[in-house]
Amino acid sequence: MVIKKSFASDNYSGVHQRILEKISEVNKGHVAAYGADEITEEAISCLKDIFGDVEVFFVLNGTGANVLALEGMKGRVSAVISPETAHIVQDETGAPSKITGMQLLTVPSIDGKLDLDLTKKWLTFQNNFHKPKAEIISISQTTEYGTVYSLEEIKNISKFAKEHNMLLHMDGARISNAAVALGCTFKEMTGDLGVDVLSFGGTKNGLMIGEALIFFNKELAKDFSWIRKQNLQLYSKMRFMSAQFIPYIKENIWFECASNANNAAQYLKESLEKIGIPITKEVLANAVFAIFPKDIIPKLQQHFHFYIWNETLSEVRLVTSFDSTKEDVDNFIKKIKELLGI
Ligand SMILES: Cc1ncc(COP(=O)(O)O)c(C=O)c1O
Repeated sequence: MVIKKSFASDNYSGVHQRILEKISEVNKGHVAAYGADEITEEAISCLKDIFGDVEVFFVLNGTGANVLALEGMKGRVSAVISPETAHIVQDETGAPSKITGMQLLTVPSIDGKLDLDLTKKWLTFQNNFHKPKAEIISISQTTEYGTVYSLEEIKNISKFAKEHNMLLHMDGARISNAAVALGCTFKEMTGDLGVDVLSFGGTKNGLMIGEALIFFNKELAKDFSWIRKQNLQLYSKMRFMSAQFIPYIKENIWFECASNANNAAQYLKESLEKIGIPITKEVLANAVFAIFPKDIIPKLQQHFHFYIWNETLSEVRLVTSFDSTKEDVDNFIKKIKELLGI
């Protein structure tokens, strides 16, 4: 088997060795299914240690986490506001609307973040029953463009949400990369600022499978066990999913993995700039957006996986992973230089 590394996405990467060991470690004997086991209890307690007084539910994937977070938050007539670039809008096949029945109200965004001034247009007709009633805001940390909300920005969005009687969801598929970039704890970025529900990702940062839903607003977690089961996100052999979160948190694997991915992205960005490749978005976490000469893209893709983000602009997205190395970046740059004849 040829071992390939790529910059396509952080879910192209494998699983951190220690996580695999932990999965293997809990593969002993029989334990209660569906999360009623001691391993899952320990994993939940690890998450409570870092998030405080919360309710925790493990689900199978990031889309499931987001959709079920919204399902858990919705009122009888809610609609959801989010940047038009958000994963829930662009890349979840309409599942948030299909499963929850809620309309997604999108706000134009250049950097992947929610602009509060532009958001206001959805609130001008909150009392008009012919119009969607915005009751939830959903933001992603990091964003689809790899940008990172500052604590101040999240605080402002949260304040805005509360002022307009809305709940706040955070898609944290890459929250570890954001925490490393900001040098803060998960809690400082979420519960402390008024986030109601967080999709806490791990798969993109060294885990094999699964995400955790963190309910800071515990009232919303009422009945969530039923919601998870009804929506097919309850994994029966739960210990293998939950066990991963124990070393991930206790042994700071989240930090080790996200730091490596972020550092690799910085190195990639600097290396591209050195050879005259324009970078289009701020690089704080593990994604680099750049303009590549059109003619080299297909040739480069024969050797490295990566996605074209904007065909017209010839803009590509490069994502580094927990296991990206300096050598991976150097090999990539070497190939680009070869194709450019420099
Ligand atoms: C920001 C963000 N949220 C959610 C997801 C969904 O994760 P999954 O593919 O596990 O459903 C992704 C996956 O790419 C993502 O980038």
